[in-house]
Amino acid sequence: MRKFIQKALEKLSKMDKEQIKDILCRISNENELLEMVLNSMTDGVIVTDRQYHVLLYNKSIARMFLINLDETSEEKIWEIIDDREIAAFFREKLTNQEKVIDKEFTLEERINRVISVSIMPLVRDKRVQGNLIHIEDVTEKRSKEARLRRAENLAALTTLAAGVAHEIKNPLGSIGIHIQLIQKEMRNKKMVKTEMVKEYLSVITEEVDRLNRIVVDFLFAVRPMDTNLEEKNINQVVKEIFNFVQYELKESGVNLKIKLGEELPKIKIDEKYIKQAILNLVKNSMYAMPNGGLLTVETLRAGGNVLLKISDTGSGIPDELMDKIFEPYFTTKDFGTGLGLTLVYKIVKEHLGEISVNSKEGEGTTFTISFPIPQKEKRLIDYKGEAV
Ligand SMILES: Nc1ncnc2c1ncn2[C@@H]1O[C@H](COP(=O)(O)OP(=O)(O)O)[C@@H](O)[C@H]1O
Ligand SMILES: [Mg+2]
Repeated sequence: MRKFIQKALEKLSKMDKEQIKDILCRISNENELLEMVLNSMTDGVIVTDRQYHVLLYNKSIARMFLINLDETSEEKIWEIIDDREIAAFFREKLTNQEKVIDKEFTLEERINRVISVSIMPLVRDKRVQGNLIHIEDVTEKRSKEARLRRAENLAALTTLAAGVAHEIKNPLGSIGIHIQLIQKEMRNKKMVKTEMVKEYLSVITEEVDRLNRIVVDFLFAVRPMDTNLEEKNINQVVKEIFNFVQYELKESGVNLKIKLGEELPKIKIDEKYIKQAILNLVKNSMYAMPNGGLLTVETLRAGGNVLLKISDTGSGIPDELMDKIFEPYFTTKDFGTGLGLTLVYKIVKEHLGEISVNSKEGEGTTFTISFPIPQKEKRLIDYKGEAV
């Protein structure tokens, strides 16, 4: 309670009309100020009591929902909100006394907007007095993110397309030359040496195969990803994939060490893509350790991120190649596609993560992927506070 009100209450019996009027004016002014602040906010705020009756809501809320609230209403919050999905959500979470942070919804019925809802208990004297519902309109934020991602994709596509053009030059040239050789072989001749022609044709077939592989890989790299992000513990995914590859590692003389962080927060991932990325990294590591070695996998928390580290004791990457390894078609292998790390990069970006490399020639390489932890730790809001 505000101090001046407390004081006034203590002296109430001794106060005259004017003094009481003065106090009421002050309270009313203060109320108006708070109301103005609430209504100028772009975020929506709803406060309920313990029985889920709406005590107050601001103008932003009225823009998001149709609210039918009359002063004496005994209806609960989920009975007065027009959006059925959100009403059902409020009912479930509030009655179960669950804290919710940043749960997103699309308001389709009235206005096509994306909102992010948080529900927090209001606590006083260690008892829940009601709930604070905070709603942020994240439509612009989301569409900006999508635009950025599209631009990034487009840039990557241009590089990839340029790569394809470059890659197909050699096989096409070779096919052209061999066709000419066959033509020459057949010119002005009644009898053709089938041995020669057979050899030329087999080169042509090989080159056609190579062209085909380039196109298939290209399509794989540019196809939009249908990621379906779900909150999961990364450790589970790591365990599953290494269960699967452990035999292959053993056969190539590679020892495996797995260090899983304890009590890691869940992160938003699409399991099948994360497994694919891990597999690509492991394949590269195995290739870098032709005579065996040690592969270390580690998960840990670092600030607001969960890290996944994959290290090998292989050949390492020379400094001058470090900038190039993520580029499409960059490979140092005779039969490499140069798309493995491009794809890993793309998958990490889809997960709003980052990837970095640390490598020393002759010693080994570590790839570190960091995933953002989605849940922001928000404090319980104390009802004792003097503001709302
Ligand atoms: N763990 C590693 N150790 C050493 N070199 C690596 C490692 N991972 C990637 N590289 C280098 O990066 C290049 C690109 O890798 P990638 O995109 O997977 O294509 P690819 O495996 O087809 O060559 C490889 O050819 C190799 O030179
Ligand atoms: Mg590879």
